[in-house]
Amino acid sequence: MRILNLVLFFAFVSYSFVALLTEKHPFYVPKHFPKLVYQFKDVPQGRLRFELGRTLFYDPALSRDSSISCATCHLQYTGFTHIDHPVSHGIDGRIGTRNSPVMINLAWNKFFHWDGGVAHLNAQAINPITNPKEMDMDIVELLKRLNNSPFYRQRFYAAFGDSVITTPLLMRGIANFSVALVSANSKYDKVILKEEGVAFSEQEKRGYDLFKKYCNACHTEPLFTSHAFKKNGLELDPAFKDFGRMTITERKADSLLFKIPTLRNIEFSFPYMHDGRIQKLKDVIEHYSSLPTGNKNVSKELKKIKKPFSEEQKKDLLAFLKTLTDKEFLYNKDFSFPKGER
Ligand code: HEC
Ligand code: HEC
Repeated sequence: MRILNLVLFFAFVSYSFVALLTEKHPFYVPKHFPKLVYQFKDVPQGRLRFELGRTLFYDPALSRDSSISCATCHLQYTGFTHIDHPVSHGIDGRIGTRNSPVMINLAWNKFFHWDGGVAHLNAQAINPITNPKEMDMDIVELLKRLNNSPFYRQRFYAAFGDSVITTPLLMRGIANFSVALVSANSKYDKVILKEEGVAFSEQEKRGYDLFKKYCNACHTEPLFTSHAFKKNGLELDPAFKDFGRMTITERKADSLLFKIPTLRNIEFSFPYMHDGRIQKLKDVIEHYSSLPTGNKNVSKELKKIKKPFSEEQKKDLLAFLKTLTDKEFLYNKDFSFPKGER
């Protein structure tokens, strides 16, 4: 009997180990989504790569004084943005110039940051790590810190077959978490996929029709962004003097263009816009409603709004936007603070 127990025990242990090695990366492509932009060069250790990325994402040791992690500014339950202030707060309480964007469906993004200054997800994380207003960490110092940690050396070896941690490997490690943040289980998705027993209310239906007419050209379904850079009527903020896309391209025509943000989980990702200047979702709708009365600072898609929305229409739009909330995503345990020993 005892021998049988022992055999079963070893069988179980080796099974668990193999399971961890072969378990898949949680990333998936939803049926109704367009062609993927991010190219995976992935392998059987998928889950280990994801878990490594997750540990890095939640680890304040990536900042100079070990006080700030990526998650400080990108909280899961708000769609991976911060909500308590308009622009980001980093190390030593230093205040940035932009609102942290949500991290949702990044595997379909062609550009990153509000001005599109970053062209690949695998190159993105170097920015917050070294930004003096965010994590203010010297990258050489960070690599030393990680390479001195038996925990990280072992984790990198298990995930990538290499225990020497370099900048590109660190970036890939983090991206393996970011890329997995797929949100596609909102009420909207269930309606589109014709899931049984799920339907829009009359009000949501009216909101959806308005949305398709006035918003969809830029916040294009099903990602709710066309990934273009546009002007939506916001005046230049005199304090930040943020000219958006022009800062990168230096073309005058790109002045005040910003990357169109996704609207998925918009109910919870306040405050809104690149500088967080609008607090409430109903005030965003108010902003678009006020455009016809003289605002010239808009891209052509918005010229379709010829007169302010009625109170009814505003409520309908709001009701539709709330169907983009995906609680399974916001509370997905795979994406939360990792458990386990360090
Ligand atoms: C101090 C707050 C702060 C910290 C810490 C921070 N971020 Fe950000 N993040 C921002 C802000 C602000 C932006 C927008 C930057 C811009 O537009 O110039 C941003 C942008 C991004 C984007 C681009 C999203 C998009 O759709 O364009 C990604 C991805 C991202 N951060 C991931 C991370 C990761 C990974 C870490 C940790 C290594 C991290 N962030 C740490 C505030 C922060
Ligand atoms: C011309 C393209 C365009 C159209 C049409 C458009 N938007 Fe936008 N929208 C943008 C851009 C660009 C931003 C970001 C602007 C910024 O931060 O400077 C934005 C931002 C937003 C935000 C804030 C998102 C966030 O995460 O901060 C919401 C909400 C929003 N739009 C809703 C709508 C609704 C509702 C409609 C239709 C009534 C609409 N938009 C039509 C381009 C557009």
